[in-house]
Amino acid sequence: MSLRDKPTGVKAPDMSVNQQQEIIDGLTRENASISPKYFYDTRGSELFEAITRVPEYYPTRTELAVMQTHSRAIAQSVGPGTTLIEFGAGNCAKARALCRLIDPVRFVGIDISADYLQDAIKSMRSEFPGIELRAVAADLSHGFELPADIPRAKRLVFYPGSSIGNFDPEHARELLERMRSLIDGDGALLIGIDLPKDVAALEAAYDDAAGVTAAFNLNVLAHVNLLIGSNFISCQWLHRSFFNASESRIEMHLEAVTDVLVCWPGGERSFAAGERIHTENSYKYPLDKFITLLSLAGFAKTQTWTDEHHWFAVIRACA
Ligand code: AVI
Repeated sequence: MSLRDKPTGVKAPDMSVNQQQEIIDGLTRENASISPKYFYDTRGSELFEAITRVPEYYPTRTELAVMQTHSRAIAQSVGPGTTLIEFGAGNCAKARALCRLIDPVRFVGIDISADYLQDAIKSMRSEFPGIELRAVAADLSHGFELPADIPRAKRLVFYPGSSIGNFDPEHARELLERMRSLIDGDGALLIGIDLPKDVAALEAAYDDAAGVTAAFNLNVLAHVNLLIGSNFISCQWLHRSFFNASESRIEMHLEAVTDVLVCWPGGERSFAAGERIHTENSYKYPLDKFITLLSLAGFAKTQTWTDEHHWFAVIRACA
């Protein structure tokens, strides 16, 4: 048992009772699941950054290439005096690149991983002394309020990386509606989406040869141990991922290697060898379907940029 696997019984100080219940509900469901938002403790955020650098994981570099190729058009579509608001800001690498391009007056990073975000924002201060930099810790899967002193005018909501694909279509629509509600007539959404493609390329991206995605998937068990005091042992689980064509999504699961009994204060769940915990979906939307979703969420106008292979799209959407 590694140190990270130890059942500590320690609850993170800001862990709400609701979130603990949400994890326990997921684990005790017949088809067990853990929400992908629990991937992102500090270690999980670092592992995700490492994923973005493995050769098989094409989305990050493809999105960056799209934004670089079309940087003039993107910059022209965003006027001066913008408040840039990034959902799921993480290490703020994409926000840095966008700040260089559009020179906003203010950047607001929003992320569930509060400490990681604070460090990222701190490290931006020397490069962007003229931009007001703010960090907001929030769970995107629930409603949240932006601080009242953030002006409503000229907001650009930025949601890169195809993170919208980690929500099922109904929740994706709700999240897009929430983004729409943050924007007035002079604002816009800039969003990245991963498009359907060759299954081999998709599956390799979620099961890289170096095992970084496997480590990322397994790390959620250590995080859950910390959050609910459970005793998952990561070496009893295997990373599984595959493309589900009928749902147009990559699924990630953790599969029990052997019969496993997992306990936490007040509860337990047994898993037979081969039984799985569903940890993530990553939807790959055809462009026209995603534009329909945007219009259902209240975005009437869109402008799209993509790469030569049509693997990834960056969309500017406004009212
Ligand atoms: C954050 N999100 C867009 C990633 C994705 O591709 O769905 C998370 C991820 N999961 C495994 N690899 C990357």
